[in-house]
Amino acid sequence: MADQLTVIVLAAGGGTRMKSKTPKVLHRVAGRSMVGHVLHAVSATKPGCVCTVVGHQREVVGPHVTELLPDGVLAVQEEQLGTGHAVRVALDALTAADRMPEAGTVLIAYGDTPLLQGDTLRDFAAQHEAAQAAVSILSGIVAEPFGYGRVVRDDDGEVLAIVEEKDATVEQREITEINSGILAFDAAFLIDAIKRIGNANAKGEYYLTDSVQLAREAGLTVAAHPIDDVWQTEGANDRAQLASLGREMNRRIVDRWMRDGVTVMDPATTWIESDVQLSPDVTILPGTHLLGATVVGEDAVIGPDTTLQDCEIGEGARVVRTHAQLAVVDARANVGPFSYLRPGTHLGADGKIGAFVETKNARIGAGAKVPHLSYVGDAEIGEGTNIGAGTIFANYDGVEKHRTKVGRHARTGSNNTFVAPVEIGDGASTGGGTVVRRNVPPGALAVSSGLQRNIPGWAQSRRSGTPQADAAAAAASGAEPDDTAAD
Ligand code: UD1
Ligand code: CA
Repeated sequence: MADQLTVIVLAAGGGTRMKSKTPKVLHRVAGRSMVGHVLHAVSATKPGCVCTVVGHQREVVGPHVTELLPDGVLAVQEEQLGTGHAVRVALDALTAADRMPEAGTVLIAYGDTPLLQGDTLRDFAAQHEAAQAAVSILSGIVAEPFGYGRVVRDDDGEVLAIVEEKDATVEQREITEINSGILAFDAAFLIDAIKRIGNANAKGEYYLTDSVQLAREAGLTVAAHPIDDVWQTEGANDRAQLASLGREMNRRIVDRWMRDGVTVMDPATTWIESDVQLSPDVTILPGTHLLGATVVGEDAVIGPDTTLQDCEIGEGARVVRTHAQLAVVDARANVGPFSYLRPGTHLGADGKIGAFVETKNARIGAGAKVPHLSYVGDAEIGEGTNIGAGTIFANYDGVEKHRTKVGRHARTGSNNTFVAPVEIGDGASTGGGTVVRRNVPPGALAVSSGLQRNIPGWAQSRRSGTPQADAAAAAASGAEPDDTAAD
């Protein structure tokens, strides 16, 4: 491999068929922008320099590209006059940045081909260099070549030209070998050829593909290497293609994890984004979406019907029918079913967040449990503590948020309200229905509801004639219940 590999990524086009206010190359597939995927693949080739050509909505695309590749070069193509013009603009920008290659290989790629792999680019550049070609074409044999530039070969199979759809003869349109768009150039040849490309064609555009004919006329070598995996060079022009590329990418990601030892019960309903990290013997049940920078440890079981965005799940944890974002669940902890973990949730090892529990900014210690029907916001719960069913951590006074701290091995009753800021000490208890407004010292029992008062015979006197009163009267007389009236 030559020491000087320069990559030019073309991303100036409008993408009108997306019918979107978002530029085409910023549409996401598997959690990354399309151009993000391409730059990822490009970076894997360890290029000397990457130049991205932006134009349409460059005020959005430019910063996105710079964020992903801070030391790349950005070239601005004010008007999209064709791929040849785009590359000329790129070479000008490289010159201005004093990063113009004098020798070596220049690879051209497009910003909308998310399935492209680094290996493919690397192998293609190596083939190009081995053949000492002036231009190499990464071609593809496709069933429906309509719209693509066709690779025209002579009887000996030598590549003569690339002819665009609109300029092709009826015979040339029958050719099924197409230009994927990915080209490799000898740098010196490209610098010379780019100046000589004209726009006398059906579209009135500067075609980069005209360089093939220029090389042939100069007696230089041109090669075309068909790629087997044509998905890799496929671009998304509309939302339907975006979905189909997304589905294929997901299929590949899920497949890779299964080969790495992850059990996926239903690959068709499992969605795993590019940056997710899984461990061997993780089990993923149907309807699960693992998004962003989510990491899952060994033997954890996730799903069914669970979405985890940017979450960290420890070894052997179980997360069932849960929606979670920016949450950490430590080893062997249990979450769900029907739990909602919001940012800043940290559940300690062996802990539990149970059914219909919502948490936010909550540190729940090792072995601590919030099993049922609760809201835990801005809270710290010590190890081994049990929070009673239906407890609300009232963290918001209508103006500001406050924290609640519950100590270690506390036992709080059902249907409590903890009015923050408040502290419940280590080993403390609270009775059912307690509204905790003042701190509870360690070991104390807090009760806040008044003493219970019973008014005897109330049903008989105030609800007379109702089944309630009849039942009460029967109980008072010791008679057997008579339920026939209800039938
Ligand atoms: C191009 C190729 C064609 C190939 C096809 C593969 C040429 C002349 N034709 O055709 O042989 O089969 O791609 O998809 O090269 N772009 C710019 N600036 C421009 C024009 C285009 O940055 O001025 C970018 C676009 O954003 C896009 C890529 O270059 O990412 C291809 O441009 P497009 O207009 O889609 O080319 P095609 O007509 O599809
Ligand atoms: Ca195209």
